[in-house]
Order: sequence, then C-alpha cells, then structure tokens
Amino acid sequence: MNKSTVQEIKERFDNDVERFSNLDTGQVATIDAQISLELLTEASKRIKPDAQNLLDVGCGAGNYSLKMLTKIANLNCTLVDLSKPMLEKALERVSNETIGTVATIQGDVRDVTLEENSFDIILAGAVLHHLRDDNDWEKTFIKLYRLLKPGGCLMISDLITQETEAVNEYTWERYGDYLESVDGKEYRKKVLDYVEKEDSPRSMTYQLELMKKVGFKKTEILHKNMCFGAFGAIK
Ligand SMILES: C[S@@+](CC[C@H](N)C(=O)[O-])C[C@H]1O[C@@H](n2cnc3c(N)ncnc32)[C@H](O)[C@@H]1O
Repeated sequence: MNKSTVQEIKERFDNDVERFSNLDTGQVATIDAQISLELLTEASKRIKPDAQNLLDVGCGAGNYSLKMLTKIANLNCTLVDLSKPMLEKALERVSNETIGTVATIQGDVRDVTLEENSFDIILAGAVLHHLRDDNDWEKTFIKLYRLLKPGGCLMISDLITQETEAVNEYTWERYGDYLESVDGKEYRKKVLDYVEKEDSPRSMTYQLELMKKVGFKKTEILHKNMCFGAFGAIK
C-alpha cells in the first residue's frame, strides 16, 4: 500500500484539532497516553530541572507543552507542526500557561530550521511514526540531537513495533482487541486501517540503538504497553 503523503497527513490533522485538544477523551486510541505523558514530562524535569527552552515537535494542540509547563513553569516554548489549525490552537493554549516566549513554526520536522544547541528538552508525542525509511529516521535523530544543549533530553511517546514478526503480530492483535473493547469492531477496523495507510512505526529497540548511534550518551525506557512506548535519551 502507498503510505500517506505529508500533504495528506497535514490535511487529516487540520481537521482533527478538537479531538487533540482534549487529552482525556481525544487519545483513547493511544494505550496509556496519560501515563506516558506524565512519565516523560516528570523524567524531563528531573533530568533538566533548570530547563528554559522546550521544543515540542508535532505539537498538535499543545498537550505535551501544557503538561511540561505544569512541571517546570514559564518555559520558552517552540511549537512545530505541519498543521496551521493545530498550531493556532496550541499557541492559544500554551500562551495562557507561560510568561516565557512561545514561537510557532509550521512545517515538517525534517525541514524546519531551528538553532542548534539551544533546547533543554525536546518532546515528540505521537509524531515520529510518520518518518518513513532508515535515512529519514537517522537524519531526524541527528537533527534532534544537534538541537539539544549538552545534558538536554529527547523524550518520545509513540506507536511502536516489535523486532520479531511473530511478536509484532501478537501486539497488534492485542491492540485490535483493545480498540474493539473501547468502541466495537468498526472502530477497530477504522483505527487499524489508518495506521496501515498513514504510519510507519519502528521498534523501541531500533530507536534506542539509533539514539546511541547518533551520539546520545544515555537512553531511558519509561513505559511500554503492547504497541505503545515512552522512552528517551540524554545528550
Ligand atoms: C497524533 S498528533 C499528536 C499531537 C500531540 N503531540 C499530542 O500528543 O497531543 C500528531 C501531530 O504531528 C503532526 N505531524 C505529523 N507529521 C509531522 C511532521 N513530519 N512534521 C511536523 N509535524 C508533523 C500532525 O500535524 C499532528 O498535529
């Protein structure tokens, strides 16, 4: 199957702002969304308690920045997303919660220009699974590494695969059962169909190894439940 183009992904999210503005009801398709968000932001605070500059890639309506601001007040926030309506919503919500600067940049995380060595914390929530081939993944991890200050952290919460096909099948079956328990067979099909069309997730192992390869000193696994995980690395 031909995967969605960047333009198709952008259009889908342009029309989904309200759902992503509510972490309680908008993220039911993500197993343990709130647990992962809590763990990533708390770990970021403990790694970089004096953080000043936050980068939120694929910020959507700003949920990750908002949570981070409950842990460290008044961060300067840079919000990157493909979707203008998402960024507008994120700007409105995040500006209300910090007296730091809030910058929005519309674009693909692979292309946007940002200052190297300038961020204490980078959060990437449910976005990197849109990266496609190995080259894409490596270039993006190198970029995110360079954007961090030494000692800064990259924290990811995302859809993931397994290394072994048999185990992979098992985790996706369980995920399907979870979706069905939430809203029936049609919902299961709808979510799994769009994952097939739009997403190209990689395993946590792949990403942790890539983090080390591009230079990160330490990696951290914070949570994993079937095909969702929360993990990160420190520069
Ligand atoms: C599933 S939403 C998650 C939003 C937010 N991080 C959250 O968890 O609430 C993914 C977001 O990433 C954005 N996105 C997808 N691919 C992207 C890319 N290549 N560069 C920048 N943003 C991207 C989408 O527009 C969308 O707003």
